[in-house]
Amino acid sequence: MVEIRNLSHRFDDGALGLNNVNLALGAGEFVVLAGENGAGKSLLMRHLVGLVAPTSGSILYRGREIGPQLKQVRQAIGLVFQDSGAQIVSLTVEEDVGFGPRNRGWSPAEVDLAITSSLEAVGLLGHRKQPCSQLSGGELRRAAIAGVLALRPEIVVLDEPFTGLDFPSVQAVLGTLVRLHQTGITIILLTHELDKCLALATRLVLMSSGTVIADGAPTDLWELITTTNVHRPPGGPEKLAEMTWLA
Ligand SMILES: Nc1ncnc2c1ncn2[C@@H]1O[C@H](COP(=O)(O)OP(=O)(O)OP(=O)(O)O)[C@@H](O)[C@H]1O
Ligand SMILES: [Mg+2]
Repeated sequence: MVEIRNLSHRFDDGALGLNNVNLALGAGEFVVLAGENGAGKSLLMRHLVGLVAPTSGSILYRGREIGPQLKQVRQAIGLVFQDSGAQIVSLTVEEDVGFGPRNRGWSPAEVDLAITSSLEAVGLLGHRKQPCSQLSGGELRRAAIAGVLALRPEIVVLDEPFTGLDFPSVQAVLGTLVRLHQTGITIILLTHELDKCLALATRLVLMSSGTVIADGAPTDLWELITTTNVHRPPGGPEKLAEMTWLA
């Protein structure tokens, strides 16, 4: 669905944020994209929907450059940002989740259905009328996910979705992601907290210093994980099954 070709990003100060990244993301995948602080994960995510321009290289969605089809791309690829609180734009949960659909001119009935089904998917239906300012950190994260789901994306990209969440909240987010993946949505999880999620992944992409250094099945990349300054438990790939907080 998405193809990143020879993507490089050079900042104004000359530093390379991304260095010749090649990556193809297909339907039905659950990708964990891991790398140390500053590896370029968030920057890569912003490139997926054209929030920043490549210095060189290109990004294709369904075989065509994203530039001329940004509206479709931003509907198909939903981003949950690292600071999900900043993603909340409205007073109440239902207003916020309905913001995208309303903004696109969907009918009131379509907006209502989008709000209901998205809040249901993240387990927040009971919070529909609540002011966003009252939500806990974990609820806020799930509200941000619901806001993304409201546009019925094909791909959901989540940037460090576990930061600051307690055990039950991490479990709630993971449970939501597994259910979404089961409904056919492609999940791209940007994180260095592999102990919480790697067992759920169909594929692991390791980034370091703006470069993809490995891409494959988590068990195949087991030994490489530690070379990217990302923590994994001691022992062999048989430990993979334990690498999730989902009960
Ligand atoms: N305007 C800029 N000029 C120079 N360097 C920048 C600029 N903006 C970001 N960077 C650098 O680009 C690198 C990639 O940042 P990015 O936010 O993508 O990392 P990340 O992998 O998401 O890290 P983290 O795990 O900390 O969220 C960082 O080293 C950052 O300092
Ligand atoms: Mg980041």
